[in-house]
Amino acid sequence: MTLPRDDITKEILRLREEIEKHNYCYYVLDNPVITDAEYDRLFRRLIELEKSHPEFASPDSPTQKVGAPPLEKFASVRHTLPMLSLNNATNRDEMEEFEERIRRFLKSSRPIEYIVEPKIDGVAVELVYEHGSFTVGSTRGDGINGEDITLNLRTIRSVPLTLRKTRKRIPDYLEVRGEVFLPLQAFRKLNREREEEGQPVFANPRNAAAGSLKQLDSSITAKRPLDIFCHGTGQIRGVPFTNYADILEAFKDWGLRPVPFARLCHSLQEIFAAHEEMERKRDELPYEIDGLVIKVNSLELQRRLGEIARSPRWAIAYKFKPRQAATRIVDIQPQVGRTGTLTPVASLEPVPVGGVTVRSASLHNMDEIERKDIRIGDMVVLERAGDVIPYVVEVLREKRSGREKKFRMPERCPVCGSSVYREEGEVAYRCVGLSCPAKLKESLKFFGSRGAMDIEGLGEKLIDQVVDKGMVKDMADLYHLQKDQVAALERMGEKSAGNLLAAIQRSKDSTLPRFLTALGIRHVGDATAKLLADHFGDLGSLMEASEEKLMEVREIGPEVAKSIARFFAQRENRTVIEKLLRAGIRFKREPGREGKLSGSTFVLTGALESLSRSEAQGRIESLGGRVASSVSRNTDYIVVGADAGSKLARAKALGIRTLDEREFLELIETD
Ligand code: IVH
Repeated sequence: MTLPRDDITKEILRLREEIEKHNYCYYVLDNPVITDAEYDRLFRRLIELEKSHPEFASPDSPTQKVGAPPLEKFASVRHTLPMLSLNNATNRDEMEEFEERIRRFLKSSRPIEYIVEPKIDGVAVELVYEHGSFTVGSTRGDGINGEDITLNLRTIRSVPLTLRKTRKRIPDYLEVRGEVFLPLQAFRKLNREREEEGQPVFANPRNAAAGSLKQLDSSITAKRPLDIFCHGTGQIRGVPFTNYADILEAFKDWGLRPVPFARLCHSLQEIFAAHEEMERKRDELPYEIDGLVIKVNSLELQRRLGEIARSPRWAIAYKFKPRQAATRIVDIQPQVGRTGTLTPVASLEPVPVGGVTVRSASLHNMDEIERKDIRIGDMVVLERAGDVIPYVVEVLREKRSGREKKFRMPERCPVCGSSVYREEGEVAYRCVGLSCPAKLKESLKFFGSRGAMDIEGLGEKLIDQVVDKGMVKDMADLYHLQKDQVAALERMGEKSAGNLLAAIQRSKDSTLPRFLTALGIRHVGDATAKLLADHFGDLGSLMEASEEKLMEVREIGPEVAKSIARFFAQRENRTVIEKLLRAGIRFKREPGREGKLSGSTFVLTGALESLSRSEAQGRIESLGGRVASSVSRNTDYIVVGADAGSKLARAKALGIRTLDEREFLELIETD
């Protein structure tokens, strides 16, 4: 169907606006109002229209976040105002000195108002917005000159390409400063992939963010889910501000993401309390922070205080305790992963690092061991980021006795005895054994995990037993386990065996993307699985697709296409898939698709009598509805069971329609 040009322009503009709005809800408000599937649909429609009508292409379109042709090198950018660094305080005395200095300088003993916020462990950048459009983005560089990384910054979803027009006026010219970071989960995933592929791993999330931002090819940056928090400004023309707190508020209005957890403090005592609280919270955050930044709130006072030696007098970084410790490597042993990669893991003399006792550390691969010259018996410095397995920062060579031993990769797999090989040009050593139990165990763990087949109770200990006893030789065997067999295993009984088998049964009601993820095809994570499912529609067509056909899918490149085609070409894999389907695995439609509840958002509270919460959620989603965990203005219905709590009160206050159990059942059961 060809639409009139006017309609096309209108639809393109509407889609761009709508996608920007959803980006804002997701990234700035932390409150998405549509499902990922719906978002993807809007996005794909926009790509399709822009592709068939290149005359309407615009660098400001949200589709432009996928990268641009590679650069030869980065241009240099001079910052209008220098990007300063911060002095550090590591204890209360140093904080007292900081305040003393301010008082001396201002000759005042009046209370000072501070904004206290987390210090994000990322990479400092500057974004320039001219009349609301993002024009240039740069690294800090030496503070005076940085590198022009505009194209890379444009790929970050939470960097708006245009500022939102709301009540708050948009400055004619605005320099925003912030911290680009890689969330911990993405960091771990990236390192796992690099480990599998034998590439050098990133030592910490900050290095990973820096490495991702310094890509000359922005399509590589686009694949890394970088994020940004804004924590300051350079020059602003056209809108006056009196304090920093107002700037943070304005960021939100403009669609920029301010640093979270910023709060006002009026005394050192309050700052110390905030420091203790955030240090406790640190491990629960999905990104790394390494302290607090304390800033004088008043911009007038900031101006009067000025700077000294490239650091402002009005701000300081109040660091947390480092999560480093020294210990000894007792042994190094290879562990076999899902794809057969042998990863050397160090057993350590147990040592507390930032409140957690650490007993082992991944050494990633042979190249890392050689580069750092790590030997068995060495004293090493460990560092832990979030709940990530710690890594070895360095060897304390001065502590060597001469009895340390070099580690060598074994020639045979320590688990199945098959030979170990290292492919030309690769760093990783792999076990060739087709049915290596270690590989199988890892695959089963992954198969049952959340986001894959989601089999509750299929834990490591149980997998070890069923594989070691020969009860499970491939994924499909899980569906043929007998209750008495399982009940007889260690730490199991009638009841837990029953629960596990029920969970296995339930997992048969799956979706195509979850099933594809569960197969553990190299390079196919949940995002790619979704793309594949959407593109091919059913498993059969995907299994028959050639590499060329696979490359027609958006975002699938030659390497991923090859890996998928190779996976489905293997006879063993096809046999297991057939067995799985014969065991009764079915694919229901993805939640968020069309159905009688499409577009409706539900919140569940209290206990229902006739069905469990997850069953209720499943029913709603299979009818196209969405279930949110908390009540907001976007909630359409709240389903109220026994002992409903505060959600109900909030829903009532917002005038949201309540359904009791009977009304809810009627709604989902009548056609
Ligand atoms: S304000 C005058 N706020 O830490 C410097 N910086 O060690 C103004 N950083 O280069 C910086 N989180 O990149 C500020 N909430 C935060 C921050 C933060 C991280 C970085 C920033 C700066 C470095 C200084």
